[in-house]
Amino acid sequence: MAAAKQALVVALIFTIIVFVSAASKNRTKSLNIIKELNRKGPYIGLITVFSTEEDAFFATGSFKPDPKHPFVDLSGRRFRVGKVSGRNVIYVSCGIGLINAAAATQQMLDVFDIKGIIHFGIAGNVNNSMSIGDVSIPKQVANTGIWDWVNMNRTVDSGDVAQLDIGNYNAPKGNGTNLLGHIGYDEEEFFSESGEPSSAEPLFWANITPQWLQLASNLEGMKLEQCVNSSLCLPEKPKLVVGLKASTADIFVDNAAYRDFLFQTFGVSSADMESAAVVMTSLSNGFPVIVIRGLSDLAGKQQGDNAVRKFGSLAALNTAKAVLGFIENIPEHAY
Ligand SMILES: *[C@@H]1O[C@H](CO)[C@@H](O)[C@H](O)[C@H]1NC(C)=O
Ligand SMILES: *[C@@H]1O[C@H](CO)[C@@H](O)[C@H](O)[C@H]1NC(C)=O
Ligand SMILES: *[C@@H]1O[C@H](CO)[C@@H](O)[C@H](O)[C@H]1NC(C)=O
Ligand SMILES: *[C@@H]1O[C@H](CO)[C@@H](O)[C@H](O)[C@H]1NC(C)=O
Ligand SMILES: *[C@@H]1O[C@H](CO)[C@@H](O)[C@H](O)[C@H]1NC(C)=O
Repeated sequence: MAAAKQALVVALIFTIIVFVSAASKNRTKSLNIIKELNRKGPYIGLITVFSTEEDAFFATGSFKPDPKHPFVDLSGRRFRVGKVSGRNVIYVSCGIGLINAAAATQQMLDVFDIKGIIHFGIAGNVNNSMSIGDVSIPKQVANTGIWDWVNMNRTVDSGDVAQLDIGNYNAPKGNGTNLLGHIGYDEEEFFSESGEPSSAEPLFWANITPQWLQLASNLEGMKLEQCVNSSLCLPEKPKLVVGLKASTADIFVDNAAYRDFLFQTFGVSSADMESAAVVMTSLSNGFPVIVIRGLSDLAGKQQGDNAVRKFGSLAALNTAKAVLGFIENIPEHAY
């Protein structure tokens, strides 16, 4: 019995050692490749979220993979290495939500020789003067998902940026109270290279790097696609708008009342689930950053099904076009 137990323990330890060393072997191999790649840097970091955006970007054919190391895998993500319009780029798809976005951004900035981050993808449209297919390059982005959720008899913290009273949305119309109470919108804690160590500043609106926003303004008026295919087109020509506001939260917004609340309260034109994380992480580390988001749906204002399935690919294609235009606008000698 004891011998069998001992053997089991030994086998278990052996398995653990093999597993751990295998994991770190893969990691070491990747980090060595990255070291080699960095000698050919610096790179522009490109970060999308999921397959629709990735497929549209690679379908343009403008990404030329590095002949020796077209990609390197790290922490479960594939970082693709290559050139777009003669500029060195590293591309990664981060996955949905703020945690994935912040983790992938921080890792990219830490391990690769990066000059700045272009974050792009699709988003819900919350501004009635914008349309599906349009591309927004915001000047500011906020995380509108840091909530103080207080019960019906309490008031939200006076330091909060905004308030949503759930009782106002009772249907049929109630008397203004509801056990779900109130939601106060709190700020982020922003740590930065230029600030005091371990001393966070409160931050609601994160500002896109002004020089990059200036470069992006050259893209206004660019031609965007209007049709998914021969039988499915948007009613109007899509437009690219620079300088609006964007919101991010770990919430897929498909609700007209909440969409309108976001627009009226924060003046945001789009809702997504990653931008604020990529922007805040880039700024914390002292890197330039820009967000380019194509509007794929009405975030709940539609009749019937959410349009993201129908128009997601078109929005992603227009986004990819804007990204390529932006990269071409970056002075070549700078990167
Ligand atoms: C190491 O990489 C190989 C090839 O990508 C993969 O199949 C394997 O599961 C990895 N090993 C560990 C322990 O992560
Ligand atoms: C709110 O206050 C009322 C009146 O004092 C009390 O009856 C009720 O239980 C309170 N509700 C909550 C959720 O605390
Ligand atoms: C609203 O209705 C609830 C339930 O009937 C009641 O407890 C509460 O006092 C009312 N509040 C107001 C502001 O009238
Ligand atoms: C166009 O795209 C829509 C949505 O994906 C699809 O339902 C339709 O069959 C397509 N039409 C053609 C002609 O490919
Ligand atoms: C909504 O979009 C229109 C068209 O781009 C823009 O002019 C307007 O400023 C936007 N509204 C807000 C509050 O940003």
